[in-house]
Amino acid sequence: MINVFQPQLGEEELAAVKEVFESNWLGHGPRTKEFEAGFAEHIGVGPEHTLFINSCTAGLFLAMELLGLGEGDEVVLPSVSFVAAANAVAGSGARPVFCDVEPRTLNPTAEHIEGAITERTRAVIVLHYGGYPGDIERIAALCRARGIPLVEDAACAVASRAGGRAVGTFGDIALWSFDAMKILVTGDGGMLYVKDPELARRARRLAYHGLEQSSGFAGAKVSHRWWELDVRDFARRVIGNDLTAAIGTVQLGKLPEFVRRRARAVELYNSELAGVPGLVLPPALPEGHETSHYFYWVQMSAAIRDEVAAELYASGIYTTFRYPPLHRVPAYGADLELPDAEQAAERTLCLPLHHGLQDAEVREVATALRKAVASRS
Ligand SMILES: Cc1ncc(COP(=O)(O)O)c(C=O)c1O
Repeated sequence: MINVFQPQLGEEELAAVKEVFESNWLGHGPRTKEFEAGFAEHIGVGPEHTLFINSCTAGLFLAMELLGLGEGDEVVLPSVSFVAAANAVAGSGARPVFCDVEPRTLNPTAEHIEGAITERTRAVIVLHYGGYPGDIERIAALCRARGIPLVEDAACAVASRAGGRAVGTFGDIALWSFDAMKILVTGDGGMLYVKDPELARRARRLAYHGLEQSSGFAGAKVSHRWWELDVRDFARRVIGNDLTAAIGTVQLGKLPEFVRRRARAVELYNSELAGVPGLVLPPALPEGHETSHYFYWVQMSAAIRDEVAAELYASGIYTTFRYPPLHRVPAYGADLELPDAEQAAERTLCLPLHHGLQDAEVREVATALRKAVASRS
């Protein structure tokens, strides 16, 4: 089976894990600090703004807590979002308000976001579909002008940039995911970026039991009894650990090469699939934008999409669609029509794209796709 997503780990990650084993310190420690600092440098911010946590989902829930959201508040987000974003909003007591997206990029524009803002809007969450930065510069300017905090779910955008600036640093809070399906993987894990230094300090407390300083001799601030507790918030425990952080640091070093290889696969798909009747390829990136190449998505008539996916699956090629529109999920109680998101959800298929994909496999997928589409035209 040619997988749609696939991580790549090697001897270097094994050696880093072995070192952690030998250090006998598996928890939050020096490797976590090193990974946080490395990631901060990668996105061009100071290390006090980044916090390694155990998943991006935990970070989304934490973000809602940091923004103090609750009953009566609204959060605007594109309907084409990952389920965790809407759950984080709903879990806080606030109401997710879904907006439409551009049919080709599956990203919202500033106009889509603006159209969904009301006087109850307390935050906006955007993701960067497939790694494309989207309309982030204008959305950030809109949120700034309206005084509404912007959260970037940058799970798809670990190496994406707009105007030379890392995606995730346009808003007030951002999250990246390092789960097993992502480009940079730690098994499970995520990075939280908080722009405001005071809020970043609070995030550290909220990620670890609401404690101002973790217990332990080195951090003792309470008294000579370093085991005493200084609880400032009633919080949970969502911090990362040195084992996964050590993997993260090695993967971060390999990230440019991973993205280069993904870009190569995308180029090959583009040339293999150019001009195929009935098939629409991903739109060109706007000038000044860089993508992580997380998804490679094609669009076709809704009448054939599911059959094409089934035929590819039967010939050993796994495809998928990300992300089914959330306004159609009954649990969120959204009673609205978002025509472009709905159309895109019926027409879009994500093809295999990962940094272990061989040229021959890309050609195999392209050949099978051309055949599946042609036989139904
Ligand atoms: C856009 C997006 N946001 C958030 C998440 C959640 O990430 P995690 O699995 O690290 O909780 C995912 C995972 O698939 C995602 O794709």
